[in-house]
Amino acid sequence: MASDVPTIRRVRPEDAPALAAAARAIARTPGRLAARPEEIHDDDVRATIVALEAGDRGAYLVAEHRSAIAGHALLERLPLAATAHVCRLTIAVHEGHERRGIGAALMRELLAWARAAPAVEKVELQVRSSNEPALALYRSLGFVEEGRKTRRVKLGPNAYLDDVYMALWVGRVEALPEADGRGYARRMPTFSRDLYMRAWNFATERHHGQKMPGSELPYIAHVGAVAMEVLGAITEGEVEDPDLATACALLHDTVEDTRTTAEEIASVFGAAVARGVLALSKDGSLPKEEQMADSLRRIRGEPHAVWIVKLADRTVNMEAPPHYWPEEKRRAYQREARTILEELGAACPSLAQRLGAKIAAYDAFLVP
Ligand code: NI
Repeated sequence: MASDVPTIRRVRPEDAPALAAAARAIARTPGRLAARPEEIHDDDVRATIVALEAGDRGAYLVAEHRSAIAGHALLERLPLAATAHVCRLTIAVHEGHERRGIGAALMRELLAWARAAPAVEKVELQVRSSNEPALALYRSLGFVEEGRKTRRVKLGPNAYLDDVYMALWVGRVEALPEADGRGYARRMPTFSRDLYMRAWNFATERHHGQKMPGSELPYIAHVGAVAMEVLGAITEGEVEDPDLATACALLHDTVEDTRTTAEEIASVFGAAVARGVLALSKDGSLPKEEQMADSLRRIRGEPHAVWIVKLADRTVNMEAPPHYWPEEKRRAYQREARTILEELGAACPSLAQRLGAKIAAYDAFLVP
């Protein structure tokens, strides 16, 4: 049911009373928030909203479920110049909306904002040591524990909780000298394995029964190969938004080749993935000879993560053509691959290099 899918949107000042009320409800459970209910005021929430929406100091998002606010999350850059590359993250799933993936959806959107903001390099958060679901979510997104402050939250006489400090590096710095002369470890680019599995399962179901052209192999073999090329580019550190790239890779043929609609993809995987998949889909209403140029133009309007999927797709497709393709079709396919490389190669050096090599090797399938 579409109404069951939470939507994520920017906060509005008029959300302040509902957000403050939700925070007070959470705070009534001892230990969930550091603040007590009576310490949470509508005006303070409104001031935070106005401050964050005014400039580039941060981002404030809410999740809506059946037209009620179901959760909120914000990133605030620290105020001093020397710490302005650090964002503090706060997130809350409201009572009665737990276990619907709202926290994960809010985190994904906020981290996408942080990765896209050039001034933001580090995201920090603190979480009560008793909040195991939250700790597991943050770890799955790549956050690492930086330390603990023991007995930092007092629940009552002789009852305390620790605060766990976690952080995620989203900046580009790879080899700053550390005090001991070693370097920071190169940040391993990561993607969400949970998102990958959701997209893989979705694509497997949608392509079920389809075969690769001129082959008895299931079509999903092609999808897996494209995703593998994208993962290769991610491990080279060449993909700015690994989650967008892997989701688009796994879903790239669902709209063009199955009954799936872009609206459906938007409701399950978000608007950015749907836009990417749509750009990667040919527009069947155009004359056939215009479809590729049109798709390439739309891909170029999307983030590099989407360009990389097209490079990966064509790299995979430059294996042996179906046996029934005539010579002229093979030559046209090789020419088209050169156009893709010229138009999109800048997005990813390693895939540009691989595609270039495959184009050259494709001569073996042509009549000399
Ligand atoms: Ni494909």
